[in-house]
Parts: sequence; structure tokens; C-alpha cells
Amino acid sequence: MRDTRGPSGRVSEITVVLCQLFGPGASCRPLGTGNARPGPLRPGTLLGVNGEPHAGETKVVLSGIQPTGAVHLGNYLGALRWWVDFQDRYDAFYCVVDLHALTVPGDPAELSQATFNMATLLMAAGLDPGRCTLFVQSHVHEHAELAWLLECTATMGELSRMTQFKDKSGKDGEESARLGLFAYPVLMAADILLYQADLVPVGDDQRQHLELTRDLAQRWNSRYGTTFKVPDAAIPPPGGGARIMDLQDPVHKMSKSAASGAGLISLFDDPKLIERKVKRAVTDLDPPGPGAVRWDPEAKPGVSNLLELLAALRGGRPAEIAAGYESYGRLKSDATDAVLEMVVPLQERYRALARDPAAIRSVLAQGAARAGEVAAKTMGAARSALGLLPR
Ligand code: AMP
Ligand code: TRP
Repeated sequence: MRDTRGPSGRVSEITVVLCQLFGPGASCRPLGTGNARPGPLRPGTLLGVNGEPHAGETKVVLSGIQPTGAVHLGNYLGALRWWVDFQDRYDAFYCVVDLHALTVPGDPAELSQATFNMATLLMAAGLDPGRCTLFVQSHVHEHAELAWLLECTATMGELSRMTQFKDKSGKDGEESARLGLFAYPVLMAADILLYQADLVPVGDDQRQHLELTRDLAQRWNSRYGTTFKVPDAAIPPPGGGARIMDLQDPVHKMSKSAASGAGLISLFDDPKLIERKVKRAVTDLDPPGPGAVRWDPEAKPGVSNLLELLAALRGGRPAEIAAGYESYGRLKSDATDAVLEMVVPLQERYRALARDPAAIRSVLAQGAARAGEVAAKTMGAARSALGLLPR
């Protein structure tokens, strides 16, 4: 079992707010087609943790994605579609976290292109610069600056317990892993705390990092006086796309670093390739027939993953959707259609946006300016809380 204990060894106390906001099995359709959250909400309506709209101060959302590897269906279902959805309800900040990409070897010539492409993709997925602040992490120098201050708040012990560091330090082990990879979750905490974020929409694999962020904010606030808001993770509920699995190896999550591309659906894959990948998805060993298509992630990880894809893309709950199928073949062809309904228009929008790189650059410049104003304010408060001498 994965270790979900926090740095202090206790079980996660992070509020999984999506369940509270939308009910279990929540799903959204950010690309403008049908089913979404319960009840009509006006753009900009705020939701309290009990799911009721309320007036008052606008809540802040922040999230980030690395400009590395292929953006895949897991990224979209676990994170990006919620980002799109949240831009109408909250003051939303989204960044392409290029500084995080430096934690593992990479090609400098590719980094800036990958960063630019990721920003384009986020807009193609539905982020609208008129409704959110979209920027590149390294354009706002306060991220690196606050990370240092937080590194002097975090401990070696708590960072040593981060499972992603253990996974990512690779076969050569910690000896040659970059110091930045070890400190990566602290930079992520800085990203979040700089904007006084209330909510952080991420997939399930970021739970432990969110817990660390909360611990650091609480420790800092009690040591130096209240400076940061303590954020909540917004992780989709079970069956809601928080952990999309590899199609060829459905006990492991779909991941940019998977050994083979056959189990990963990239948002840039050709529709024909997507069709082939879903058709070849590993289903489970028992023969098709009544009861073979059922929602049971432990005993039937392959089928359950396809049901989860379908539920997340079209709405509904995986267990109920299962009842409509007797054969794996029909489940796969419906899952393919659902993926293509989302991916094909996204790819068309991407191609259209990519024709005007100057417009994307201008979005990112404006985003950095707005993000920089907010970040500078928090940074000033953090410096003075620590007793750093004003200039
Ligand atoms: P990354 O690929 O690590 O930059 O992740 C970007 C976002 O996608 C993060 O919020 C992750 O938690 C989320 N994510 C990554 N892989 C998956 C997956 N297989 N299923 C659901 N969400 C995922
Ligand atoms: N660590 C996240 C990931 O690997 C990316 C990330 C960086 C992030 N900074 C963040 C996510 C701030 C949410 C908020 O997916």
C-alpha cells in the first residue's frame, strides 16, 4: 500500500473538498458539453465547503503542471478539467512549473518550447485568460525566493518521507539525485502559499505534497505569526478520475514516465492511435458475460479503469455505468468515443492557438504581471515575519 502518512507520521487530514462540493462520484464537463455540477451556478458564484454558494471574499485556487513529457488523460481527468471548471467559481491562478522541471535531467533547448507548448495546451483545454491568471512559474521570481525561506522551515526528516522523491530518484538512488528533486515539494509549497490559495486541484498522487504544504504553513504561522492561508487539496472523489491507471498495467497510474507508451493516452495522440490503445487495453482475466463488467478496482483493475474513464468523461458513477455492459468490446468502444469527443476538439483548438504564438506570449506576460503583484505582497509579509531587514 502507498504510504499516505504525513511528515509527522499521522494519517492524512487533508480535506478532500471535491466530495464535499459536488458529492461522491462528482464529475464535470469543462469542454462545454452537458453534465456537470449539481444545479445551475452563475459564473463567479462561490461555494463554501458545505457546497452552498456564499457571498463574501473570493476564494483563491492555485495549481501547476510541469512542462515535461506527454500530457496524458490522467493529467486531464485528475487535474486540468477541474482547473477549467474552477475558473468561473474562484480567483484562479495556474502556472506551468518550469522550475520544477529542472529537478531531473532535461535538454535546455527543449525546456522553453515545452513550457510554451504546455501554456498553449492549457488554453486549448479551456483555460481562458479572461477568467484566470495563467503564467510561467519562473517569470515570478518570488517562487524561488519563498522556497528558500520555506526550506528553512522544513526538515530533512519530513522531506525524506516524500514517496515521490523515492520513486523519482531512480535506480541510481539518492546519491546522484539532484538536491532540487529532494526540495521539490517545498518549491511546490511556495507556489501555493504565495497566492494565499484556499484550494489546490490536483490528482491523488499529490496528496502527500499538499499535506506537507499545510504542515509548513501551520508551522510558519505558529512560529512567526499568521502569514499564510492553510490550503485544502481538491482531489476528485473515488471513481472521479483522481488516479487514472496505465491501460497496459492497470495497477500502476498512467504516468509520463511509463516504460511504454501503449498504456498512456497522450492528449496529442492521433485519434486512430487512441482507438488502438483503448482496444488493446488490458481487461481482466475472467471471461466476458453477465457480471464481468463491474466496478471493482481491486479484483478488476483494467475494467474498472475503463469505467472510470467513461464516468469522468461523460458523467455518472462507474458502478452504475457498469450495469449497462455485458461485453468488454462495447465498453471499450464507448470509452474510445468518450475520449475522442474530448480530445479531437482539444487538438483542433491547440492547432488554432499555435498559429498565433505572439498572442500566447502576451497572455503569459499579462499573467506574470498579475501573479507578480499578488506574490510580491505575500513575499513582503513573509520577509517581515522573519525579521529580514527592509531595503
Ligand atoms: P504531472 O504529470 O506530475 O505534472 O501532474 C500534473 C497533474 O496531473 C497533477 O495534479 C497530478 O496529480 C495529476 N495526475 C498525474 N497523473 C495522474 C493520473 N494517472 N491520474 C489522475 N491524475 C494524475
Ligand atoms: N508537483 C506537481 C506535480 O508533479 C506540480 C506542481 C508544482 C503543483 N507546483 C504546484 C501542483 C502547485 C499544484 C500546486 O504534478
